[in-house]
Amino acid sequence: MKVLVTGSAGFVGYHLSLRLLSAGHEVIGVDALTDYYDVALKKAREDRLSAHTGYKARRARIEAPGLLRGMLVEERPDMVVHLAAQAGVRYSIEAPATYMAANLQGTFALLEAVRAVPVRHLLIASTSSVYGANTQMPYKETDKADTPMSFYAATKKATEAMGHSYAHLYDIPMTFFRFFTVYGTWGRPDMAPSLFADAILRGEPIRVFNHGDMRRDFTYVEDLVEGIERLMEAIPKVGQPVGEADSLSPVAPHRIVNIGNAEPVQLLDFIGSLEATLGMEAEKVMMDMQPGDVPATWADTTLLRDLTGVAMGTPVPEGVAKFAEWFREYHGL
Ligand SMILES: NC(=O)c1ccc[n+]([C@@H]2O[C@H](COP(=O)([O-])OP(=O)(O)OC[C@H]3O[C@@H](n4cnc5c(N)ncnc54)[C@H](O)[C@@H]3O)[C@@H](O)[C@H]2O)c1
Repeated sequence: MKVLVTGSAGFVGYHLSLRLLSAGHEVIGVDALTDYYDVALKKAREDRLSAHTGYKARRARIEAPGLLRGMLVEERPDMVVHLAAQAGVRYSIEAPATYMAANLQGTFALLEAVRAVPVRHLLIASTSSVYGANTQMPYKETDKADTPMSFYAATKKATEAMGHSYAHLYDIPMTFFRFFTVYGTWGRPDMAPSLFADAILRGEPIRVFNHGDMRRDFTYVEDLVEGIERLMEAIPKVGQPVGEADSLSPVAPHRIVNIGNAEPVQLLDFIGSLEATLGMEAEKVMMDMQPGDVPATWADTTLLRDLTGVAMGTPVPEGVAKFAEWFREYHGL
């Protein structure tokens, strides 16, 4: 298969592209290498992908007029996995306009491109943040999710709705994933595991929000991309739900699927695993809750299992050990 992956130099895009290349697929990667975080890390990921003959990189902003449409005409991919976005809950309070451009204009440009040049399946990253103020746990895809707490979550929820209208109007098979806090090797420097590892190794204090009373459904990146790869072949068809838990739309080939570990972990236990694997204790500064954040996330993964037979499996201490080994080596710490 030929697969277009947007955001291929990003954390998830890198791991997914590597997995697809290893399975013998061709990957066209598009990424603007934005400077939201260290561009050298994105370049390093891209260099590793470029070592594969089946990989072709395009450096461009997805919202650039005509760009994605031109790429689809030229490359005729079988499927598109859309991971490029301005991510991050906290930064969306500082720089909301970036989210408008990358997430809304970018996704709109992709929908228009796929409308003109159809693909077998369009898969798009959304987030557990769309569950917002919901307190009923675990989160189910069929739960109402109308209370976003950050602008990031609002843009992601909007893309799910935009996608639904295009899936309905133009019969485009579409799957939205809601990812739950992904961590692992080549991880994002703006996310807690990297921030914590960096501070601990340098002997600096770490900031622990909500005084440590946070639970996250930490999901190991290898498990996540295995889930994505399997979902690529689970193409939604109107009138063919896979079971009681299916979020399939009654009027469009459009479905939303949680990809999470289904086993939430206390933040202080996650930090404990990191301390154990680094053999160092963190100096913790307890902080209040940050605006836009939620105290807990927990995925119901019944639908993911019904569609793919896969369950996420990497226990946090094991995933953290792999992450920490990579982190030390990459940063020479
Ligand atoms: N990592 C997580 O825990 C997590 C959780 C929920 C959802 N997500 C979503 O998953 C997707 C991948 O996240 P990630 O963690 O790999 O983030 P990332 O920031 O590492 O990757 C996103 C990539 O998109 C690129 N990009 C950003 N704006 C662009 C634009 N306008 N045009 C072209 N490229 C652009 C960036 O350069 C980056 O390489 C995103 O859609 C994100 O919102 C991630």
